Amino acid sequence: MPISDTSTSSAKSIRRAASELVRTESLTSPRFVGRRQSLIEDARKEREAAAAAAAAAAESSEASEPIVFEEEDGKAMLNLFFTLRIATSPALSRALKVFETFEAKIHHLETRPNRKSSGNVADLDYLVRCEVHLSDVNTLIGSLKRTAEDVRTTKEVKFHWFPKKISELDRCHHLVTKFDPDLDQDHPGFTDPIYRQRRKMIGDIAFRHKQGDPIPRVEYTEEEIATCEHLEAFRLLERHCGYSPDNIPQLQDVSLFLRERTGFQLRPVAGLLSARDFLASLAFRVFQCTQYIRHASSPMHSPEPDCVHELLGHVPMLADKTFAQFSQNIGLASLGASEEDIEKLSTLYWFTVEFGLCKQGGRVKAYGAGLLSSYGELVHSLSDEAERREFDPEAAAVQPYQDQTYQPVYFVSESFTDAKEKLRTYVAGIKRPFSVRFDPYTESIEVLDDPLKIRAGLETVKDELKTLTDALNGLA
Ligand SMILES: [Fe+2]
Repeated sequence: MPISDTSTSSAKSIRRAASELVRTESLTSPRFVGRRQSLIEDARKEREAAAAAAAAAAESSEASEPIVFEEEDGKAMLNLFFTLRIATSPALSRALKVFETFEAKIHHLETRPNRKSSGNVADLDYLVRCEVHLSDVNTLIGSLKRTAEDVRTTKEVKFHWFPKKISELDRCHHLVTKFDPDLDQDHPGFTDPIYRQRRKMIGDIAFRHKQGDPIPRVEYTEEEIATCEHLEAFRLLERHCGYSPDNIPQLQDVSLFLRERTGFQLRPVAGLLSARDFLASLAFRVFQCTQYIRHASSPMHSPEPDCVHELLGHVPMLADKTFAQFSQNIGLASLGASEEDIEKLSTLYWFTVEFGLCKQGGRVKAYGAGLLSSYGELVHSLSDEAERREFDPEAAAVQPYQDQTYQPVYFVSESFTDAKEKLRTYVAGIKRPFSVRFDPYTESIEVLDDPLKIRAGLETVKDELKTLTDALNGLA
């Protein structure tokens, strides 16, 4: 049955769901059976692969490549610090000659008195930010070392590329295929060619999707709608939150609704994304969302995320402003992070966004999408069988997780605001030689590695502070 206009009903449902965390005391359900996907396992594999690659590179003594942000067209943006002594006065022209030789485009040049030189104020430290061809980086640094002293780059490690413009999310498409029904024999849809064909058709929507395109509507079959209807959690949300049993909300409608509420938007994805790509999208307030439905033979369990999990679990929470900020902050922390930190952030994501508990009105309630879309685990999480600990990001980031059955341990936040503040402190401890901020006007990520950019950012904050202070004074 075609779905015509679901925007009003889905908007209403989401609003109700967001304002009311699901109550669970009186529920019972069969236990979860089967394995499920987690970002953490994927992140762990990436870290292990990176460690192996680093070890191999160290053996061939290529580990200390001083490459910084790799840009388009094989160019690198390089921050260089060096000192020039007064005793070698032609040094400046020689140093500049090096940049000229390599056709380095200088974006910023700054000097300050050298702090180490005693009494000789003419010794200067230089900061040069320049764009240079990637293949020339090492030779340029080598040449500069012959002219200047104490030559350093701000970043001695190779960074992972990350998207800086929202349109670059089109490059974040690294799929993890281990639970694909075409490849995984244990997938409930493996022996069903019609289901596999259907998945391919819906998956192609995601493959063709470009950032900014409207998300094509899917005409869900009666069987798919019925699969949703059979879910206990769906019945629960239907009763408490107004989801309709004969409808599967369209991603485009839900995306427009979320945009108005919190600035989040959905983007169709064909399957599991790599942890790095998934988290990077959150930095832009983009939630990568599956559009297919689990196999009809297994309505209670899906080994991979599906539209049911997203719409029942994630979407209501993304409509909450504080939660939306919390999710974006995890995303921002992931940009350019090491494999080890990506694994920790994925684990944090698991114990908050997927399986988090939160106090509300003195009672512990569920907000994690994995709980809201899994009736059985929802009950388990609040039962005496589970251990509930106070949310501590340091502990949650390294807590062993369970993907075969229910979690033995859950973390309880005092409130979303409390969780957000704790995450902020945790993130500040992640070692990255730069900070990033999201510019909502240009929907881009600004890398704050240059004093001029930081100053410009402070000006924006000053304007906002002034507006808010004036508003507050007006009320007084
Ligand atoms: Fe999820």
